[in-house]
Amino acid sequence: MDDLKHQYLTQIANAADEAALEDVRIAALGKKGEISLKMRELGKMSPEERQTAGPALNALKDEINSALAARKMGLADAALDERLKSEWMDVTLPGRGRPAGTIHPISQVTEEVTAIFADMGFAVAEGPQIESDWYNFDALNIPGHHPARAEMDTFYTHRAPGDNRPPHVLRTHTSPVQIRSMEAQGAPIRIICPGRVYRADYDQTHTPMFNQIEGLAIDKDISMANLKWVLEEFFTAFFGTTVKTRFRASHFPFTEPSAEVDVQCSWVDGQVRVGEGDGWLEVLGSGMVHPKVLSAAGVDPDQWQGFAFGMGIDRMAMLKYGIPDLRAFFDSDLRWLRHYGFSALKVPTLHGGI
Ligand code: DAH
Repeated sequence: MDDLKHQYLTQIANAADEAALEDVRIAALGKKGEISLKMRELGKMSPEERQTAGPALNALKDEINSALAARKMGLADAALDERLKSEWMDVTLPGRGRPAGTIHPISQVTEEVTAIFADMGFAVAEGPQIESDWYNFDALNIPGHHPARAEMDTFYTHRAPGDNRPPHVLRTHTSPVQIRSMEAQGAPIRIICPGRVYRADYDQTHTPMFNQIEGLAIDKDISMANLKWVLEEFFTAFFGTTVKTRFRASHFPFTEPSAEVDVQCSWVDGQVRVGEGDGWLEVLGSGMVHPKVLSAAGVDPDQWQGFAFGMGIDRMAMLKYGIPDLRAFFDSDLRWLRHYGFSALKVPTLHGGI
């Protein structure tokens, strides 16, 4: 019995890992283990022999079991120590930089403009970019023969020969959203509509796709004076200072009277600077909504009146952030995007000096 004990306790002490330990357990206490077999022999012994051999075998079994458990715990602790050593990490090392994307100036400026008009009580409305020519032209008092259709360099969608449905266009301005919004909610109404518009035009200040924000305010007694106040209020908030603007009498089929607004700027050393020099950049068209436009949208012009404007968002971004060439906005040049883009955390707010 002493030999057995010595033999197994030594094997347990020397087991190098849990698998070796398990082998020792099976050899001693498994179904066919040496000690298990011995316990089975107890039955064949005389009662006297059994009285001494029984307790001794049980004590041996208990001792081996607790030696196995202790060694098992020791091995687990050692394995954990080993793992902790190999997985050690220096949390004081500087982190690895990750390139973060930026918010495109158009998105940023759209948010800024929206925040300012929201503060003046304008809700946001949207409309489709592929528009019927009725919404894009006719409802806005631009009939088929009107030169404005030709002037706008419109992209028409393809119609198969013999397909006589009226043509659809890529909307040339956000003004059709005026019609859709008045149809949907009638008057009074106060909305702005940001979105993409399309014209076949390409130079430093024109791209075939660009962005506008339409504004519309209809009520019983809205006048040109309200229009001027709202726009001046907007420019001051947007540029963070009073900038010189120029209201020029103009003509649009959908407004009467009409005005175009320019913002003072200069182009120096390939940079555009707002509020100085003797240059002007046209940023919006505006006016009192034409009675025919109200009628087309189902609003009674004898009861309601108001103003509308359409502003080039991209132009506003050029002026505010000194970006000289509109075409770069849509080149997806990563260097440009990193330079002019905004941190995602720089959320425009009215009190944050937008
Ligand atoms: N839709 C015009 C354009 O894209 C801009 C415009 C002018 C919009 C006068 C208006 C407006 O709402 O009243 O050139």
